[in-house]
Formats: sequence, structure tokens, C-alpha cells
Amino acid sequence: MLKEFKKRVIGQDHIFNTVCSYIKIGEAGLAPDNEPRGAFLFLGPTGTGKTETAKVMADLLAVPLIRFDMSEYSNPTKWLNDFAFKLEGKEKGIILLDEIEKGAKEIMDYFLQILSEAKITVDRKERNVRNFYIIMTSNIGSKNLLDQNFKEMKFTVEIRVRGYFRPEFLGRFHRNCILCFKPFDYDTITEIAHLKVRQEIKRLETHGYSLTYSETIIPKLVFYVSLDRDLGARPLVQAIQEIFPAALLDSGKKSGRFDVRNGHIALL
Ligand SMILES: Nc1ncnc2c1ncn2[C@@H]1O[C@H](COP(=O)(O)OP(=O)(O)OP(=O)(O)O)[C@@H](O)[C@H]1O
Ligand SMILES: [Mg+2]
Repeated sequence: MLKEFKKRVIGQDHIFNTVCSYIKIGEAGLAPDNEPRGAFLFLGPTGTGKTETAKVMADLLAVPLIRFDMSEYSNPTKWLNDFAFKLEGKEKGIILLDEIEKGAKEIMDYFLQILSEAKITVDRKERNVRNFYIIMTSNIGSKNLLDQNFKEMKFTVEIRVRGYFRPEFLGRFHRNCILCFKPFDYDTITEIAHLKVRQEIKRLETHGYSLTYSETIIPKLVFYVSLDRDLGARPLVQAIQEIFPAALLDSGKKSGRFDVRNGHIALL
């Protein structure tokens, strides 16, 4: 599982030992009594793989991902009702609270009980989450830190996070389960470019095309997005999702190799 995580989420190896160790304990049924199988708080800059890690984890464990975009929840009651609704009929899974700082602060208070007793009462009905993992993500404190090295950055983020959330909330995450994602260096973004190009080609092939790519397109793609360094891998993913289908349609071909022609990526 460790290897698979590292293959699919690039440049964040430092978090997967912890994540996999808790998953092992959780899957063996040995998590502390009356707690969820595991709970993680993912911090760090935008576009560095926090949400992606939750998706990969759901895939590897073959359980549903129950995602809440917390920016939709300024009203705690609405969240509680949606929570009960989305969990209905599910025995296990991963509960993802994405971008928690964008939701009502009161919602985090529900998690004092959820994280320490693995249950919550909605409409006088008790809902047990003992067999679930909980992942929360937040960019809090991660802006304008790209000029710091990772150790300094992590330290600053943790201090800012401590200033934002209540200690009794943060204290409910087990040792090492508050994890900070790294910004990318050139080599990492290059590796992500390879991964995303392969994934995009696979996706296009499901539409009946037969495709390969030349290595020369990779530095080209990385160059396109180097100006948006503080947005993580997102601009790269978006560039690939636009350039590849556009080049495909421009060529009018059903098969070929993506390569650089006259300074642009084209299907040859
Ligand atoms: N480390 C990574 N390895 C592979 N792909 C990545 C990585 N980081 C980001 N991506 C890709 O970039 C896009 C954005 O990533 P993701 O949604 O995980 O970012 P995030 O860290 O959750 O950002 P935010 O804090 O803005 O929510 C996705 O398409 C994802 O596949
Ligand atoms: Mg995210």
C-alpha cells in the first residue's frame, strides 16, 4: 500500500509512513475503542495532493469516499443533516472534510465528539462512525511561504494552525496525524507531469484513440506552468486536460504521438 500511495501521490513520501501505519491498525480493528479507524488533518499549500491522497486512499481500501466541500457549509445544521444523509446505509468509508476553514467553526465542535467517541447524534438518532476514517484538509497558514524551506514552512503553518483551531480539537488527532504537505520542486513537478500525461492518454484511449508521447513534451508542460508555482500541480493538470484533447482534435487523427512541433505540443 505504501508503494502504491507513493506512485500515485508524488513528492509527499514523508506522510505515507504515518498514514499507512494507522491504516494497518485501523484495518486490523485495533484502533482505540470508540474512536474512528483513523483521523488525519492534512495541511499545506494548495494543489499539492491533499484531496488526491483521500481519493487514492478510498480507492486502495475499496471503500466509498464521502466528501464534504466545507465552503458550502456556513450553516452547521445543514452540514449535520447532509452528514446523516450521506452516511445513510454506509458501513465504512472515508469521510473527507475538504477545506475545513471555509465552513462554520461550530462544525468542528461536532468533531470533538466524533473523534473521541466515534459517534454523533442527529435527530435523536445516534450515528456510529467507528468503521470510518476521517480526513480533514486545510490551506490555513500556507500562503506566501514558498521562499521558506520545508522545515521552516511546516513550523510556520503549525503555529498558524494552532492560533486558528481550539487546542481540544487539535489534541484529538493522534501523534503525527497532523501532516503538512510539501510544495513541489522542479523534479517533483516533472514526475507529476509524466504521471498526469499517462493518465490523460489512458483517459483519451477509452474514447477509441491510440496514443503515445515523446519525453520532449514534459519540460514544455512544466515550463507552461512554472509561472504559477504557488498553485501546486493544478495548473499543470488543467494545461494537460486542455492541450491534449485540443491537439488530438486539431490533428484529425485516431492515433499518433504527442510531440513538440514549432514550439507547440501537437499529435504527430
Ligand atoms: N503530489 C501529487 N501527486 C500527483 N498529483 C497531484 C499531486 N498534488 C496535486 N496533484 C494533482 O493536482 C490536482 C489538485 O490536487 P489536490 O486536489 O489534491 O490539491 P489539494 O492539496 O487538495 O489543494 P487544495 O488545498 O487547494 O484543496 C489534482 O488533479 C491532483 O491529481
Ligand atoms: Mg483539496
